Amino acid sequence: MRQLCVIGSGYVGLVTGTCFADMGNRVTLVDIDERKIEMLQAGQMPIYEPGLAETVLRITEAGRMRFTTSYEKGLTEAEFVFICVGTPSGVDGEADLQYVRAAAQTIAETMRQPLIVINKSTVPVGTGDWTTEIISSNQPQPVEFAVVSCPEFLREGSALADFMHPDRTVLGSTDRAAAEKVAELYAPLDAPIVITDIRTAEMIKYASNAFLATRISFINEISIICERLGADVTEVARGMGFDKRIGPHFLQAGVGFGGSCFPKDVKALANMAQTHGMHPQLLNAVMEINAFQRRQITLKTREMLGGSVSGKTVAILGLAFK
Ligand SMILES: NC(=O)c1ccc[n+]([C@@H]2O[C@H](COP(=O)([O-])OP(=O)(O)OC[C@H]3O[C@@H](n4cnc5c(N)ncnc54)[C@H](O)[C@@H]3O)[C@@H](O)[C@H]2O)c1
Repeated sequence: MRQLCVIGSGYVGLVTGTCFADMGNRVTLVDIDERKIEMLQAGQMPIYEPGLAETVLRITEAGRMRFTTSYEKGLTEAEFVFICVGTPSGVDGEADLQYVRAAAQTIAETMRQPLIVINKSTVPVGTGDWTTEIISSNQPQPVEFAVVSCPEFLREGSALADFMHPDRTVLGSTDRAAAEKVAELYAPLDAPIVITDIRTAEMIKYASNAFLATRISFINEISIICERLGADVTEVARGMGFDKRIGPHFLQAGVGFGGSCFPKDVKALANMAQTHGMHPQLLNAVMEINAFQRRQITLKTREMLGGSVSGKTVAILGLAFK
């Protein structure tokens, strides 16, 4: 049984903590949001995920998970600390790293024994390097630590199942031994583990999300062409999907991609490229098509309603991201 601390009790933190505790580890979940921690202590879930409430109840009753706002309590005896705080879009589309920075600083000020710091937040390439800097420059006394990047690939709505049955686990570090210790934590999940350097691990997350978003914009562009030429995009996608080199996933034409990750991650990757003097043509096109697709829906709705939506009652089926 290993002692883990998880910083941030949102989608990623709560699911990570819950699943590791369910796998037999001891987990302390730390959040600065007092209301969220009070809810969790009272057995109420701040989010809905299938199976989450039952699992949290089982592992808290078994004494394997607890919730606190105190980093001291969270880090006492912990061997591993997972950073799972938010990285929303900043004004120019860049990832806003204030929460990651604050978490790293508080870990540095609070840690008293050797620690492996694992970053699960989606962060720009190079974040692992400055996280190391922040921790070493804010420790009151030098204590050994290593930073490992371990991006998360779960989807909201099937988060527990995705965590427990990942397609792969990606670990990046300059400290191979630390990455291998984290690999041991993930070993029971029986999925391929890719151990690489920290910048490559950070990029794998962005490249994966950008690629999936690209597939969606691709099929949406095809859908516009299909409409003009009298072809059925749903059948086109089905016909394409049987090709093993293409596959059927993320090929449904529609309103475009949304949710808490794809829009911000594509923007952040484009911003990274731009700030390093590159012109990310494909990423820009992916975002442009996505915005166009939304406008298309409004234009079509207006057309079907005789030119104006005002005074009309419109039903929307499916209140998900879209
Ligand atoms: N939601 C997803 O489906 C998903 C999937 C993969 C990766 N990610 C990435 O994981 C990260 C977290 O996403 P999320 O959806 O869980 O975010 P979230 O906003 O749901 O949760 C973040 C939590 O961190 C807490 N927090 C902020 N600063 C803190 C601090 N200094 N100390 C302690 N707690 C702090 C917040 O109060 C909040 O509860 C993001 O980088 C996101 O891009 C999210």
